[in-house]
Amino acid sequence: MKIIHVVGARPNFMKVAPVLKSLSKFNGVSQLLVHTGQHYDANMSEVFFQQLGLPEPDINLEVGSGSHAVQTAQIMMSWEEVALRERPDLVLVYGDVNSTVATALVCAKLQIPLGHVEAGLRSFDRTMPEEINRLLTDQIADFLFTPSEDGNVNLLREGVPAEKIHLVGNVMIDTLVRLLPIARGSQIFNDLNLRSKNYGLVTLHRPSNVDDTASLTAIMTALQGISRDIPLIFPIHPRTRARLDTLDKPLSANGRLRLLEPLGYLDFLRLQIDAALVITDSGGIQEESTFLGVPCLTVRENTERPITVEMGTNVIVGQDMDHLSAEVLRILEGKGKAGTIPPLWDGRAGERIAEIIVHFKQ
Ligand code: UD1
Repeated sequence: MKIIHVVGARPNFMKVAPVLKSLSKFNGVSQLLVHTGQHYDANMSEVFFQQLGLPEPDINLEVGSGSHAVQTAQIMMSWEEVALRERPDLVLVYGDVNSTVATALVCAKLQIPLGHVEAGLRSFDRTMPEEINRLLTDQIADFLFTPSEDGNVNLLREGVPAEKIHLVGNVMIDTLVRLLPIARGSQIFNDLNLRSKNYGLVTLHRPSNVDDTASLTAIMTALQGISRDIPLIFPIHPRTRARLDTLDKPLSANGRLRLLEPLGYLDFLRLQIDAALVITDSGGIQEESTFLGVPCLTVRENTERPITVEMGTNVIVGQDMDHLSAEVLRILEGKGKAGTIPPLWDGRAGERIAEIIVHFKQ
């Protein structure tokens, strides 16, 4: 059985690692790893391959950046050639990035069986490119591996046959569980001279937050205010960096609001473990902070990961910066949201996926 995993952007890499590893334990399964090249900077891609112990991609489509149409179309054209040449029995795609939907569309047209890892998540906000990517990929996938029960409910409501849906748990958490002991040894905590639970960790990269000058300015002003109460560490995504450089009022980063380059997986995890709070618009970090029990304030109007709110430590603050600041103060007063770890977020989701795939074929 020949399986090709297609990944392209930073959050895909943590998701493919456990599935690849679990499938490698089965005789008769050959695997190829294809990187679309959607993310190409060393600190957005290569460092993750090294730290996650991923093999070098067998094929890199090297599509790079572009508008949604350009990026999606280029992935489709390059991937179609590879798919026709390699003729896989199954293709696995991950998450909700442009690489995911582009790969999926080609597979559907070529009638190559397709599995979607992290299926069924819905924000119900179609202004998000990721929501479109999720909806389309799930409609054409043959295996839908969901991280939580809400994913099953969403897929059934959209008419996906029950036999295609497999509740397996969260592959992102598999990687976290595996690498937590190694992350604890990262030097970054000392290098930045931090004290446990005495800083906040910030990540922001959603177009809805950073592409609009007024929103970005409001958020940065709020972060400067919050940093007077608790120091903030903010590793900056390239999209956000580019937008910050265009602001009229230059940002006065200071000792209490520290702007860093994007961090590797282990350093970021190390910082997350001991953070007093996380402020983010990332999907994956909502999940990781829930697992770690760290209060998370999500700067979005919605989440496709409602279980992190229902069971975990996540609070959706939207783009209301007064709400954000008030929630930070609540956390600093010791009244942050406590949570529990959702079912099947146990480090074994990749194993469950591998079992399902291998036994289905036999
Ligand atoms: C993409 C995903 C998003 C995910 C995020 C994680 C889509 C639609 N969005 O958003 O869901 O949360 O990845 O990071 O797929 N750039 C670089 N170097 C890189 C990659 C990007 O400088 O290695 C810059 C380029 O200017 C590029 C911009 O970042 O145009 C945006 O990159 P892109 O991959 O289009 O989207 P992300 O914002 O990274």
